[in-house]
Amino acid sequence: MTKRLIGTVCAAALLVASASVVAAADPVIIDLTTFPVPDVESLPTDDHGVLVRYGRDLVTQTYRHIGPEVADPAMRFAGNNLSCQSCHLAGGTTPYAMSYVGVSSVFPQYRAREDGISTVADRVNGCMERSMAGKVLPVESREMKAYLAYIDYLSKDVPKGAKIVGSGVKAVPMPDRRANPERGATIYEENCAVCHGEDGMGKRNGQVGDAAGYEFPPLWGKDSYNNGAGMFRLAMATRYVLHNMPLGTTYDAPTLSLDDAYDVMAFVNTQGRAEKAGMEKDFPNLYRKPPDMPFAPFADNFPMDQHKYGPFAPIAAELKRLEAEAKAQ
Ligand code: HEC
Ligand code: HEC
Repeated sequence: MTKRLIGTVCAAALLVASASVVAAADPVIIDLTTFPVPDVESLPTDDHGVLVRYGRDLVTQTYRHIGPEVADPAMRFAGNNLSCQSCHLAGGTTPYAMSYVGVSSVFPQYRAREDGISTVADRVNGCMERSMAGKVLPVESREMKAYLAYIDYLSKDVPKGAKIVGSGVKAVPMPDRRANPERGATIYEENCAVCHGEDGMGKRNGQVGDAAGYEFPPLWGKDSYNNGAGMFRLAMATRYVLHNMPLGTTYDAPTLSLDDAYDVMAFVNTQGRAEKAGMEKDFPNLYRKPPDMPFAPFADNFPMDQHKYGPFAPIAAELKRLEAEAKAQ
């Protein structure tokens, strides 16, 4: 038998095997909006329980352990005084606020940003370098182990490969127009400034230098997420804010209209913030680059302004057309 034939026989056998698995069990669907979240406090205080609790604390009070103001300079991994929870609400357990529940069950997975396979540790470090404007945590560090232990614990009841409803941010089509940051400034004034400040600087828990973080996190400036963060992309940010802000808003009862969320985040992301180097290297497969990624190079010929402010649907359609055209060649 030639090598090629063996390959074909094996592939056929595999197909039969996987077909019977599919027939035996329907794909499991986990809906995070009703799924019970495991209680960290129910764990014993053995080594594992201590590590999971440390992971939880690193999420809810990042600034106290690895922020830029902690006493030990070697522990200053985050570049700002946000916590992971500033965005991953309620310790990463709120559906449609990038919940961590089930994340361990769906990784490793393909990610367009790297155009390769990415692990949960890669994702933690993606947010460390961007949302937290800091440095990567070494994979062997106690802090990375604690993050992974916490995310694993939250994911423990979600079967491997399950289809998860309520992960990430809730998808809604973007308005079919350019966002209006000037209008967004007024919406900010009326709906956000009371907590996040007239100047976007938020409200500290304590004094500058005491590593106590924020009661209300800043939305721009040097203590906010950098321009490489997911929150800097308008469609991502609009979906997040529509379903989670002002604080207390839930995915099933938005406070703002879609148009208001779109304009207010266009305004927020027009304000100054730290800049990440090397943004041109993100999404090396340009057909898979999200239309709201406002950094060259692009596969399409739409102006930079449209990648930043929309409308995004024409860009998405053009990318699809270009990719199909390239495949056909
Ligand atoms: C400024 C907001 C923000 C902060 C702060 C933040 N993240 Fe994220 N995080 C996001 C967004 C937005 C996404 C989804 C973005 C994407 O897919 O590119 C995300 C995705 C993730 C994911 C993947 C989730 C999934 O469903 O695929 C993990 C894990 C993660 N973040 C961990 C962390 C950790 C740990 C911290 C703190 C060290 C942190 N994040 C801080 C905004 C934030
Ligand atoms: C009642 C107070 C309150 C109001 C009003 C409010 N927020 Fe927030 N917002 C918060 C808090 C608190 C957090 C952090 C959550 C945490 O730490 O648990 C947050 C987090 C955020 C984040 C992610 C973290 C960051 O720093 O980037 C964004 C983006 C955001 N808010 C945008 C908005 C926008 C836009 C508005 C107005 C439409 C708004 N918020 C109104 C309290 C508020």
